[in-house]
Amino acid sequence: MSVEIIRDVTGIRARATELKKNNKTVCLVPTMGGLHAGHLSLIAKAREVADHVVVSIFVNPKQFNNPDDLKTYPSDEEDDVKSIEKEGADVVFIPSVEEMYPQEFATDVKVTAGIDILCDAHRPGHFGGVATVVTKLFLQVGADYACFGEKDYQQLFIIERLVDDLNIPIKIIPAPTVREKDGLAMSSRNARLKKADRKLAPKLHKTMQKIKEDIHNGVDIETACAANQQKLESTGDFKVEYLEVRCGKKMVLMKELGSECRLFAAAWLGGVRLIDNIKL
Ligand code: PAF
Repeated sequence: MSVEIIRDVTGIRARATELKKNNKTVCLVPTMGGLHAGHLSLIAKAREVADHVVVSIFVNPKQFNNPDDLKTYPSDEEDDVKSIEKEGADVVFIPSVEEMYPQEFATDVKVTAGIDILCDAHRPGHFGGVATVVTKLFLQVGADYACFGEKDYQQLFIIERLVDDLNIPIKIIPAPTVREKDGLAMSSRNARLKKADRKLAPKLHKTMQKIKEDIHNGVDIETACAANQQKLESTGDFKVEYLEVRCGKKMVLMKELGSECRLFAAAWLGGVRLIDNIKL
């Protein structure tokens, strides 16, 4: 059976109502297209937890603070639908910008936890845009579950807070970061890396592994991050935005190693912004 494509809110809501009537559970996998193995692992996870899997493809203009990033965001609907179908999802929800944000649209979800740090410090307003669109998608799809990758850890943290705060009856299912063989965290934006930069890109993850090793060998967190950042930037290819150790539960900065510590990184390489995080 081929995957069904629904493009309007009325259609996806009708599907949600019908599934509820038949006591079927629904898992949403929200995406912006440009699908890679990381997204496919989320679809596989969604199939494990729910009767029905909806994958959304919507390049959300509200979460882009850089117009060029929005214009060049890699997405190919035909290819994406093919891989979603192959992975066994039931529905692909592909609303237009007008469908999601009609002219009279005037409501935004404001995020006040987990912001001003990490990505939010460099992409102001981004998480408000994410929070608004995921709230809409959760309600439109009537999902019981939604899968999010740990690669966007701050996003996951904010969405978990959001569903608690707004009492949205949905269970968030986190899934581990999927990596290329050389360690690079999968991301739709990796497709924009020039060939030479693609070869260099795994250096970010290698640097993070080295920081982890140094910290576990007794080097203090600040020194380990600063020394390895300097080394990574020494060739002039990488420009680090942040390399920080925070608590994965509360997102506060950590000066000493503890069981919830995670290392967070964002760096620019040849005009592409790479982000990653690992547990320490
Ligand atoms: O992680 C993403 O791809 C996006 O931020 C999401 C969750 C689909 C919202 O647009």
